[in-house]
This record gives sequence, structure tokens and C-alpha cells, in this order.
Amino acid sequence: MTRLGILLSGRGSNFEAIAASVREGRLPGCEIAVVISNVPGARGLQTAKALGLPAVCIPSKGVGREEHDRLVLRELSGRGVDLICLAGYMRLLSPVFVAAYPRRILNIHPSLLPSFPGLHAQRQALEHGVKISGCTVHFVDEQLDHGEIILQAAVPVLEGDTEESLSLRILQEEHRLYTEAIARVIGISGPGETVR
Ligand code: GRF
Repeated sequence: MTRLGILLSGRGSNFEAIAASVREGRLPGCEIAVVISNVPGARGLQTAKALGLPAVCIPSKGVGREEHDRLVLRELSGRGVDLICLAGYMRLLSPVFVAAYPRRILNIHPSLLPSFPGLHAQRQALEHGVKISGCTVHFVDEQLDHGEIILQAAVPVLEGDTEESLSLRILQEEHRLYTEAIARVIGISGPGETVR
């Protein structure tokens, strides 16, 4: 059994997509061991509770980065987590965190990295005038939206796109891609295979 730990700070739609994949058998051998938010009141935390999943808030406000990371690490190891999925987790991880789970921390970002890391990736893409954007699932290191790329999906940028319309088009791909990347990392889908 692969025990997933989900870290989020807000809406949690990627978490919901992963939870649906687990429930519907697209990630055989996986279970969600815990959902952790650094933001009290994050919608994703409410969703986790509603789904009957362990949901824990570890507030980061006013806490040092490493101190907070150690609290999160303690929760993750206490829950026997094997693989961590950052899903809209608005925190940079400290070296201590990254070292604790080598090649076992994934993140999803709404651009084709290495283009447009950081906040408002979709707005950055529009401002730059790119014709193709998309999303990336990558292993996490100490740098922001950086680390070995696992999978990417491309979407067109259309005439008249707004930040909202582009974000929505990318988000639909994100929801599919994250499951596919998890499957790839834990070895339940080989290269070239698609889990939908
Ligand atoms: C997504 O666009 C993700 O790529 C980025 O933050 C957003 C989180 O959305 N890292 P949600 O909370 O999963 O709905």
C-alpha cells in the first residue's frame, strides 16, 4: 500500500481529483493517509473532512519555516506516509523537509516549467504572449517550482483568453495529469501508458 500525504493551502481541486482517482480505482494500492493544510479554513481541508479523510491543520503563520516543516514531517511520519503530493501548497520546503523524502515529494504547477515559475503562472504566460502553455508535475527540491520533471501536458492559449479561461483549461489537464504522475512514480504505469 502506498500511503499518500496531501499538502494544500486552499481550494484543493487537485486533491479532490486525486481522491476521486483513489476511490475509483485509478490508483490501485494507494490510499490517502492524511491531508494537511497550513491555512486554517482552507476549502480543501473541509472537503477532506467531508470525505471522511484525516484532515489536519498545522498553521504556519508566525512559525519559522523549518520549525513548521518539522511539525509537518512529524505528522507525515506518524501517519506512515510514503509519498507526498503538494496540491496548491503555498510554501517553499526547507532542506530538512526535502531530505526526509528523497524523490518522494511531488508538486503540480500550472505552466510548462521551466517557464513561468512562481505565482500567477497563467497571467505570466498571457503577458508573455505564449501560444502554448500547460502544466507540469515535478519532483520537489528546495527551489521554487524546480526539480526533475515527471510529466507535462500542453494546452493551447486561445485568442481572447483571460487569466480565468486559461487557468480553467490548464486545471482540467492538471486533474488528469497528477494521477498519471503518481502512477508513474509508484510504478503502476509504465512509460507511454496512460491512466485516465
Ligand atoms: C493549481 O493551479 C496548481 O497547479 C497550483 O496551485 C493551484 C491549486 O489549485 N500549484 P487547487 O487548490 O488544487 O484547486
